[in-house]
Amino acid sequence: MSEHQDWFPIPETAARNTQCSAADYDLMYAQSISAPDAFWAEQAKRIDWFTPPTKIGNWSFDPVSIKWYEDGVLNLCHNAVDRHVAAGKGDAIAFIFEPDDPANDARRVSYSELLAEVKRMAGALKTLGVGKGDRVTIYMPMCVEGAVAMLACARIGAVHSVVFGGFSPEAIAGRIQDCGSRFVVCADTALRGGKSVPLKANIDAALTKVDGVDAVLVVQHTSEPVAMQAGRDHWYHDFGASDDCPCEPMNAEDPLFILYTSGSTGSPKGVLHTVGGYSVWTASTFHYVFDYRPGEVFFCSADIGWVTGHSYVVYGPLQNGGTSLIFEGIPSYPDSGRFWDIIDRHQVNIFYTAPTALRALMRDGDAPVLARSRKSLRLLGTVGEPINPEAWRWYHATVGEGKLPIVDTWWQTETGGVMITTLPGAHGMKPGSAGRPFFGIQPQLVDNEGVVLADEHIGGATSGNLCITHSWPGQARTVYGDHNRFVQTYFSTYKGKYFTGDGCRRDEDGYYWITGRVDDVINVSGHRMGTAEVESALVLHDKVAEAAVVGFPHDIKGQGIYCYVTLNVGEEPSDELHAELRQQVRVEIGPIASPDHIHFTTALPKTRSGKIMRRILRKIAENDFGALGDTSTLADPNVVDALIEGRQNR
Ligand code: WTA
Repeated sequence: MSEHQDWFPIPETAARNTQCSAADYDLMYAQSISAPDAFWAEQAKRIDWFTPPTKIGNWSFDPVSIKWYEDGVLNLCHNAVDRHVAAGKGDAIAFIFEPDDPANDARRVSYSELLAEVKRMAGALKTLGVGKGDRVTIYMPMCVEGAVAMLACARIGAVHSVVFGGFSPEAIAGRIQDCGSRFVVCADTALRGGKSVPLKANIDAALTKVDGVDAVLVVQHTSEPVAMQAGRDHWYHDFGASDDCPCEPMNAEDPLFILYTSGSTGSPKGVLHTVGGYSVWTASTFHYVFDYRPGEVFFCSADIGWVTGHSYVVYGPLQNGGTSLIFEGIPSYPDSGRFWDIIDRHQVNIFYTAPTALRALMRDGDAPVLARSRKSLRLLGTVGEPINPEAWRWYHATVGEGKLPIVDTWWQTETGGVMITTLPGAHGMKPGSAGRPFFGIQPQLVDNEGVVLADEHIGGATSGNLCITHSWPGQARTVYGDHNRFVQTYFSTYKGKYFTGDGCRRDEDGYYWITGRVDDVINVSGHRMGTAEVESALVLHDKVAEAAVVGFPHDIKGQGIYCYVTLNVGEEPSDELHAELRQQVRVEIGPIASPDHIHFTTALPKTRSGKIMRRILRKIAENDFGALGDTSTLADPNVVDALIEGRQNR
């Protein structure tokens, strides 16, 4: 192992009593590569199968066809809920609910109670006409019923499409339309940081823009009054208990869920995961990455509207019979000690959050952390974006008092679960590096022409574009309704390989350092945002001629949204127009896409063939004027000077 000034050895707490040592990892990783079918057949035994699979992996990246466990029959809800009750663990706690307002009571839901609740929700959905294969849009706060709605869909074989509560009616309508969803589950309103989010009203607004929704099931969460449309809208509490809802036997390759995610072009894609592979992937990654031990309390702060919430608030922990904490609120409410209060109050052992939250909390100093005990913590994790070493060190030294392992987990909506990370008892840590590939994952770094750089899976220091050469069970199978888009987006840049869209460096120890997106996707507070989506929203304004959006470094959010806008002839920039454009983006996408900067300009830098040179726009947004590169191919090089001047005056 190389001398590395930033090297943190495996903490003593993790080295002792671990489920996977360094030697275990080396052996298992080697097995997972040399005999993947045997390896994944073994891992599949973590869960129950109604019919165990005899075929394991059956995939090709050219042409693209991905199947795992294709003759297996199972049900994810059975594995997440029923089987624990059947095994006599019904009294174990499945979910702890921590409300937005800490003065309100927390709620503990046992596996038996969860089973009853899931059956009731499944019964309600069935009564409303939901059947196997139907798509159900879920627009819920962070609450137990949000997870229950997902599990109920999985139970009856319906395909859930969870839409994050921060998306606007326009964005919801697009997602309902794209997957032809005839059913919606929502709550009256949500509470976040003491503020009410009008979920039901947003659904009502969305449903004026899209046809085809037959029924809306409304969970009474805050009891704020909401409008109910007779015949279409139904209160969940009007449905009684249901015992007539067995787990539907699902083929491993039946669809499980759709989750919309942004890419470099066009509207968000409905990434589709199927039952078998996703179940095995989330069950096994949860077990190894978090080194989960029975009885421990696991707190993942992600919303169920994102893949992290799917895999590590709901399906990973529950399949392992774990206790998962669902937090309704935000880290800064009522003050910036909230996470640590929750950790003390519920004796959280494993805490998993995003670097953006840590950066925001770090800004408030150590006092809020030090005022809480945090004694229960055993393991820390991060996800969603590269963590800057400064934030990592703060997490390690202040939150973890220098004693706890940190797993920096790199993965994507499309990968279903963790792909690159250190394992707590197996690997030392380097601040800012995600670490090593998980079992079965074969990363490869290629240059822009696709030439493989140092073609070794482990070792061989280099940097390039991150591809994965072999399929893994948790891999997305397609883009809903558009397989060609799936192929084009992920498998055509480098033929025969899955291209992640991320840049990456591998060091001499075989550690991977994700450097961020290399495509036109920006990562705002750990949320993926397509620059094309923001541009489309801006140009809808009738005064706007053209828009180009890029990311720029932002202290808290990781990346901020920088918009260059040109106006139609005769229009002038104004504060009012600035406000209107911000509002326009919030209406089209949601508050999470609010621009940080709107830079009005008379022209954008274009090549003679009319292509916008984004590289230059990025550099100017970054205030990096010395590194603009070759500008000689620009149609009008003077544009650049005007843009720089505009940037300097901001
Ligand atoms: C980024 C979230 C660095 C990356 C699970 C990826 C990360 C995108 C990390 C996926 C990490 C996620 N280090 N970058 N540990 N985790 N990313 O689909 O750019 O919302 O491509 O999935 O987030 O975002 P998504």
